[in-house]
Amino acid sequence: MDLTIIVPTFNESPNIDELVRRITPVVAGTSAEIVFVDDSTDETPSVIAEVAARAEIPVRLIHRDDPQGGLSGAVLEGIAAARAGWCLVMDGDLQHPPEVIPTLVARAARGDADVVVASRYVGDGKADGLANGLRTLVSRASTLVTKAMFPIRLRDCTDPMTGFFLVHRPSVVPDELQPRGFKILLELLARRPFRVAEVPFEFAPRFGGESKASVQQGLRFLMQLAMLRFGKLSGFALVGGIGTIANIAIVALLTAFGTPFVVASIIAAEATILGNFVLLERFVFSDLRQDAGSVWSRLWKSFTFNNVESAIRIPLATAAVSAHLMTGTIATAVTLAIAFIVRFTFHSLVVYA
Ligand code: GDD
Ligand code: MN
Repeated sequence: MDLTIIVPTFNESPNIDELVRRITPVVAGTSAEIVFVDDSTDETPSVIAEVAARAEIPVRLIHRDDPQGGLSGAVLEGIAAARAGWCLVMDGDLQHPPEVIPTLVARAARGDADVVVASRYVGDGKADGLANGLRTLVSRASTLVTKAMFPIRLRDCTDPMTGFFLVHRPSVVPDELQPRGFKILLELLARRPFRVAEVPFEFAPRFGGESKASVQQGLRFLMQLAMLRFGKLSGFALVGGIGTIANIAIVALLTAFGTPFVVASIIAAEATILGNFVLLERFVFSDLRQDAGSVWSRLWKSFTFNNVESAIRIPLATAAVSAHLMTGTIATAVTLAIAFIVRFTFHSLVVYA
């Protein structure tokens, strides 16, 4: 089988040499190549170039100066650049043992799968490399929740969060994917039906360097789940929810320091409008951004709309209450619900047209 091994790297200089050293005997006698897709800010690219120059197998480096889509975007870029029909995706820190590659390839050679997943949670697979109990718990729980959200698409996959898998290149359709964060396999499996096979593996401790997992990656993952499952409206709702909490917190903080309530409310509202805009840009409408004018024109439309919307909504709710049509609580709830739908429609069809 011809094989392209895709390794996304972000500041992994201590691991490159060891990784290539361990992959080399595993693919000896085949035409396999390694493609590093690198977003590093340190000396990793020059280490890769140096290792490539003396490697016994072909090693290519794609360095991205403008990294789009993080780890997931890097993997897709590697798949697009692959020479082989099958792409093996693995981490650069040796948590994915190269010695498992032949087992994955042999499983794919049976010809009944589009993707062969190296799973920590099947057979004698192990997740021990997840250094502490808390991470193991988070990993297990999020795997269960994710499987519950996509019961059909993930039926045959015990480890949709793994970054170690072999995929048949023609079954990856880049146009329908929205790479974000760390979980590219989930993105692939959730968007279209794949024939999934699995092979167990033991997740190893990191060889050198540090993990790039973070709270921010966790939030990105939640956003990815929401968007995959319920589309843009849910991402929009999640951002709105975060904005509401931020708004309340800012008002509480400012008034605690003696700022008059009206002033605090205005500052909180404007700060939230700006914050929401940043989140919408990055997470919800990231796929429509390029074709929707400049960031300043989008910001202007969003900012103006939200201010006009508040300026109409609050007096309208007040009027409804004074006309004895409804109570204050109901008026607030009703106008907020309408505003949510109108705001979503405006952003989707006007701001990101
Ligand atoms: N190109 C690129 N760009 N590579 C990245 C980026 C990025 O923005 N962020 C991380 N990487 C690379 C790292 O250099 C490493 O090779 C790999 O992606 C995984 O990152 P780690 O920092 O090792 O994160 P992890 O161990 O928490 O996550 C891995 O294990 C998870 C299973 O627990 C990833 O493989 C996940 O996909 C996997 O689910
Ligand atoms: Mn890792």
